[in-house]
Amino acid sequence: MFSTIAEAQAWARSQGVDRLDAQLLLAHLFTVDRAWLVTHDDQVLSEAQRQTFASQVSERTQDVPLAYLLGEKEFHGLRLQVSPAVLVPRPDTETLVNWALEILQTLPSEPAPRVVDLGTGSGAIALAIKHGAPHISMQMADVSPDALAVASANARRLGLDVAAHLGSWWQALPTGQIFDLVLSNPPYIAGGDPHLPALRHEPTLALTPGGDGLSSLQTIVDGAPGRMRPGAWLLLEHGYDQAEPVAAMLARAGFEAIANRRDLGDQPRVTGGRYPR
Ligand SMILES: C[S@@+](CC[C@H](N)C(=O)[O-])C[C@H]1O[C@@H](n2cnc3c(N)ncnc32)[C@H](O)[C@@H]1O
Repeated sequence: MFSTIAEAQAWARSQGVDRLDAQLLLAHLFTVDRAWLVTHDDQVLSEAQRQTFASQVSERTQDVPLAYLLGEKEFHGLRLQVSPAVLVPRPDTETLVNWALEILQTLPSEPAPRVVDLGTGSGAIALAIKHGAPHISMQMADVSPDALAVASANARRLGLDVAAHLGSWWQALPTGQIFDLVLSNPPYIAGGDPHLPALRHEPTLALTPGGDGLSSLQTIVDGAPGRMRPGAWLLLEHGYDQAEPVAAMLARAGFEAIANRRDLGDQPRVTGGRYPR
């Protein structure tokens, strides 16, 4: 089948795997960077490496995300470990993180602003925010124990002090806690969306609440008023076609200054509002 790195790359391409993906898998297998592969492409793979690479290529052709095969994904400059228990963090979610960091710059740093990430998955949002604004009190919550274990392990490995809570949306949080900034990228894909089959290796719980995809967003908005300090912000990531219904939800719940930010593909991706003072 193949023996050297060059042959392994050619074989992976013949199976339909991207050149870059094959290089990243091989670099990971040899614990080297991609530049090393170019100068050592006559290096022979061990039998164990051959078997691992062949099986990873086969999984990749079945749409298994590259991040699951590598066990990690970079998000907002942080290297996060990921497993099939969590959604692979997407670059578009950095839109929400950047907006949140802008808001934090406008808040007094004493007492430490209280921030929560609902539906944290790998911890991507919570950890990027805590990394960018170390002075805040950051919390993260998820209903999936396996996801929360991944997020907590990421927090430990990165040395970021973030409290983790298990449970459904607001119920996960200790009673009586109120926040200066609430962030969420909840499951929002509609139940019948034709893109879901291609995402089948990621947890359904992370992708879709079923129906029109809006029910998790609605639950978060409905529970927000009792949990937000006057003047606090709520930022929600949503589908490219959900900006209007999410803005309407926020308006009905009494939020002000409702605004939207676009993602890297220029799609309306995050809608937020400020709870009245
Ligand atoms: C779209 S993923 C977002 C993951 C991560 N925040 C990110 O941006 O990469 C949605 C997350 O919400 C969690 N989730 C789903 N239903 C939930 C619920 N009822 N309460 C809390 N979290 C929930 C899922 O387990 C998943 O981790």
